[in-house]
Amino acid sequence: MKIINNTLHLECTAQSYIRWPQDKALFSSKKPYLLHGSGSNMLLLDRVYCGQLVESSNTDFIIREEDNGYYVELGAALNWHSVVKRLLDLGIFGLENLALIPGTVGAAPIQNIGAYGAELADFCWAVNGVLLDSMTECSYNNQACQFGYRDSIFKNELKDRFLITRVTLKLSKNYQPNTRYGALSELNKPTAHDIFKRVCQIRSEKLPDPAKIGNAGSFFKNPLVSVEQLAQLQKVLPDVVYFPYDDGEVKLAAGYLIEQAGLKGYQMQQAGVHSNQALVLINIGAATGLDIACLAAYVQQVVENKFNVCLQPEVRFINKNGECDAGEYLH
Ligand code: EPU
Repeated sequence: MKIINNTLHLECTAQSYIRWPQDKALFSSKKPYLLHGSGSNMLLLDRVYCGQLVESSNTDFIIREEDNGYYVELGAALNWHSVVKRLLDLGIFGLENLALIPGTVGAAPIQNIGAYGAELADFCWAVNGVLLDSMTECSYNNQACQFGYRDSIFKNELKDRFLITRVTLKLSKNYQPNTRYGALSELNKPTAHDIFKRVCQIRSEKLPDPAKIGNAGSFFKNPLVSVEQLAQLQKVLPDVVYFPYDDGEVKLAAGYLIEQAGLKGYQMQQAGVHSNQALVLINIGAATGLDIACLAAYVQQVVENKFNVCLQPEVRFINKNGECDAGEYLH
């Protein structure tokens, strides 16, 4: 038995626990298994998980300096934010925009973590791991990872089949600050340390610290809609916040829609919509996974009724048998 750590602070125990590679011989790809980092993007719906909880224990931190950049090999079990901080302290820059994102290095490529104008795909050189059905080691380069907005091959074709054990990043030797994101563009000739500080400041003002208040960051993705749908929406919400995405598509700020639907700070049972960032759902204290799912379904329904936009969860839904279709709980 093993308690499944998760930043929503939900109670759930797995039947068995495999630390990779130490307990590799005990692993069975025939039985259900859950690949786990630190649980910062999952909603555990039941109090038990009927299978093996599998975690990589790799904490390697190896820097290779070459003429064209630094290649940084990182073990999957390392905490993402401590890597950002450690590299900054060593004078290796680029990751500052991604400071304070909860979770492990191994989880970062799965949903292509992104914030403040940067995403993992901008730095990811290769992802290594084990294909669990054949137990073969395998490496995917940046292109093979098929990164998209909160998306990658690891959520699709390789979902639940590939245990990430190592991620290699390539960081430039010619640091250029990335100030694309609104609040960072106000900084004047910032150093990497300035950006790091500002990102940490913005995040701590808006986002609840998962060590204090249970949450899994943005609960929903920012929805992509057509330019035509945007024009319809602007008739009822003239100030709707959106970002250009692709030809003919824009990305709407889901937090704005939830706030405009009147749900910022809304509470249901032990679950709530965060009062500083409506895209974040929180565990008020003693929520069950179902409390959070009920609130998510309600938020989704109200936003759809008011604005005709369907929000899709970013957080993964896990029940006693493994990852399940969020649609069973939402609509
Ligand atoms: N907004 C509101 N009300 C709210 C929340 C947001 O009006 O309650 C508006 C803001 O004023 C702003 C816009 O919506 O104009 C966007 O808000 P914000 O910059 O806070 O970012 P976001 O789109 O809500 C995304 C990511 C975050 C990431 C930030 C910063 C997704 C699903 N979320 O949030 O990532 O930190 O941008 O780049 O793409 C996460 O994935 O867990 C996460 C926190």
